Amino acid sequence: MKKQRLVSGIQPTGKMHLGNYLGAVSNWVQLQHTYDAYFLIVDLHALTTVYDNPAKLREDKLNLAIDLLAAGIDPEACCLYYQSDVPEHSELHLILSMLTPLPWLERVPSYKSKLQDLQEKDLNTYGFLGYPVLQAADIMLFNAQHVPVGEDQLPHLELAREIARRFNHLYKTDFFCEPQAQLTHFPVLPGLDGRKMSKSYGNTIPISASEEAVTKSVMSMLTDPNRKRRYDPGNPDICPVFAYHKIYNTKDRISVINQTCKTAELGCVDCKKELAATLNATLAEFRINRTRIANDIGEVQNILKKGAQKARNEAAKTLQNVRILIGL
Ligand code: AMP
Ligand code: TRP
Repeated sequence: MKKQRLVSGIQPTGKMHLGNYLGAVSNWVQLQHTYDAYFLIVDLHALTTVYDNPAKLREDKLNLAIDLLAAGIDPEACCLYYQSDVPEHSELHLILSMLTPLPWLERVPSYKSKLQDLQEKDLNTYGFLGYPVLQAADIMLFNAQHVPVGEDQLPHLELAREIARRFNHLYKTDFFCEPQAQLTHFPVLPGLDGRKMSKSYGNTIPISASEEAVTKSVMSMLTDPNRKRRYDPGNPDICPVFAYHKIYNTKDRISVINQTCKTAELGCVDCKKELAATLNATLAEFRINRTRIANDIGEVQNILKKGAQKARNEAAKTLQNVRILIGL
């Protein structure tokens, strides 16, 4: 039986963090064997915010490729590549931009919130507004039904479905399917400050961080703000450190931590030390893989080039149909 198509992407705008891993990439690793899967390092999307720093983009792209491979993306099972190596993404984006009404883009929640969050950057650009159109093109280029992402991407997927529907309606076709999101069990991981973990908030734990750096980050995490002194009882339900224990610790330990925080038997420093040790143990295998992969950059580049070639073959078929349907 023919496998169903699946597409997802991640931006090379800084280091891949635990939120990316839990919210998206861990799911990719699971799904790559059951689907015809395409995973994109979306360097063109990254340009919408880091268009002024080519050296950083170059470095982040390569590091992200290494992180993804070390996390378990298997180039034999799926197709991994840099988005800009497949120019068909740009062509479909341009075509879709012709039929996407401006108000659809202006009302995307991440548009306004990112403008707010990144006020030091000039994001009043044509490309930044069109970010979700490029994402729709990524998905529609493979006519993918499935898109494994974190919760923050749901409005972008809604828009991708609207664009696909509009295309089908305008050209009296049923060519494009309507892509659906696949969420993980951890759709939103909090960052060190309790807000969503995000590269733009500077509150991340990079998956490639050293043991010392992980420990330092965990020790700096915010806890229950009402627990000011060591012997004040804590409220684990509002503590980001406890949110992590719930993900990474065993059932029995979670329940002990929950109890002993509430009775103030367990202090925040010890609770954090335990979390740092648990996280470091979880990341041990990843670190070994990463060192091995980073030793052969030539091989990483080969994998990406091969991925792009396969993607181009498939993408060309979609574009050929699109060009006919729209009368080019
Ligand atoms: P980005 O780093 O914005 O390219 O995100 C790549 C993927 O990671 C997307 O599917 C996001 O939804 C997901 N993601 C990013 N941050 C988080 C987070 N804090 N918790 C869960 N998923 C996240
Ligand atoms: N916008 C996504 C993010 O920031 C990245 C992305 C680009 C993507 N193209 C995609 C995700 C296609 C899923 C499918 O996380």
